Amino acid sequence: MWIDFHSHILPGIDDGAKDVEEASAMLHAMENQQVKTVFATPHYYAHCDKIEDFVEKRQTARAQLEEGNSIKVALRMAAEVALEPEICRLDLTPLFYEGLSAVLLELPASRYKSWMVQEIEEIAYAFSVIPILAHFERYLWYEQEGLRELLQLPKVVVQISANMLANRETMDLIKDLHFLGIPVLLGSDAHNCGARPVCFDVAQKILKKRKYGELEAWITKSTQMILSS
Ligand SMILES: [Fe+2]
Repeated sequence: MWIDFHSHILPGIDDGAKDVEEASAMLHAMENQQVKTVFATPHYYAHCDKIEDFVEKRQTARAQLEEGNSIKVALRMAAEVALEPEICRLDLTPLFYEGLSAVLLELPASRYKSWMVQEIEEIAYAFSVIPILAHFERYLWYEQEGLRELLQLPKVVVQISANMLANRETMDLIKDLHFLGIPVLLGSDAHNCGARPVCFDVAQKILKKRKYGELEAWITKSTQMILSS
């Protein structure tokens, strides 16, 4: 059974599921792929939206999806919070993973700068929250010093996209994270039923290989750790 820590399953709130029909189809795909719980993590950009407005839109989308849907996958709220300077000054609490002391942070697509690690530290300290770095496999092009600083953050957790386990470089990254003792969580980052679908079947196929037994156990242990946070 899987926990999906990163998904754009809520209808009509961001660039994810376009409507309730597509969101329902994504939920069914999750059910078929042994996903027990999905965290809905719509994009949050502090420069675009007030947190209270975002939370209201997210609640409306959740209600639309749950209405008349016999969902067997547990649906919980969170957000993919774009890291911006000084967001630690906002009350970020409503954006945390529902029921957990953790927040999903999306690093900028621009090159690494030292304010990023400072901002994450401020957030972690101010809210006593575990920072989870979203789809970390996307940032391997950051300068080495930047990657080192990010991975040295206290209690940092890394989220990897489930479909990217098919990529040898990603598996090498997970091996390195395991070696460093950094927890690894999986997320589908599913946006739709087309080009960016639910993809835990890919992860399942790779992780069942005997040579990856230790890494599968590390992901399971990491998942249990964060669920008890
Ligand atoms: Fe995402």
